[in-house]
Amino acid sequence: MSRVLMFKRFERFWHWSQALLIFVLLFTGFAIHGTYEVMRFSTAVQVHTLAAWALIVLWVFAIFWHFTTGEWRQYIPTRDGLLAVMHYYLIGTFTGASHPYKKTTKAKHNPLQRLAYLFFKVVISPIIWVSGLLYLFYNDWPATLAGALELETVALIHTGAAFAMLVFIIAHVYMTTMGKTLTSHIKPMITGYEDLDEHH
Ligand code: HEM
Repeated sequence: MSRVLMFKRFERFWHWSQALLIFVLLFTGFAIHGTYEVMRFSTAVQVHTLAAWALIVLWVFAIFWHFTTGEWRQYIPTRDGLLAVMHYYLIGTFTGASHPYKKTTKAKHNPLQRLAYLFFKVVISPIIWVSGLLYLFYNDWPATLAGALELETVALIHTGAAFAMLVFIIAHVYMTTMGKTLTSHIKPMITGYEDLDEHH
């Protein structure tokens, strides 16, 4: 076994701040939606808007980081080994098989993770981001936009993307507990360090 730095400092920072902000946005977002009544509507809107701006700033820095460090390459999709990983999560994990993917610092996501994270980054996030900004600046829409788009449509798309994010988070958190021990995948995202087999 060798100890390697798997998640750099900024990477852990953006991961956990993004997680925190998304939890705040989910909680206040569904309060705005009327799913539950735990705070004043105006408070929910204020906190939601503040957290949304913080998340947008975080994303701008994270996008810059991905491109300047070349870490964006970790998300290039591949079919190589994808079926083996899917087979593992559908069957192998229940029969005690070992994980078919051996990660390295240069390729730390298995093929299924690459697809899931890429979808999160280039589909769900931009949809929630653009629809959220359209929602926020509804009063300033130019006449051409107001003629072509209804607020209800924007709200529906925004809420739909919020549900997609919720589904992602449930699956993501569940799968982080599927390592050798309950927390063996979670610890490296806190400390940065992970033990890998020597020959990998
Ligand atoms: C990232 C940028 C985001 C922006 C700019 C944004 C902005 C907004 C705005 C302006 C509203 C309407 C508030 C009002 O009624 O006055 C709203 C509602 C909502 N937001 Fe966001 N939001 C963002 C991200 C998120 C995220 C990440 C989630 C959840 C994962 C989320 C979930 C919701 C939900 C569920 C509603 C209620 C929609 C409805 O019932 O019409 N938002 N958001």
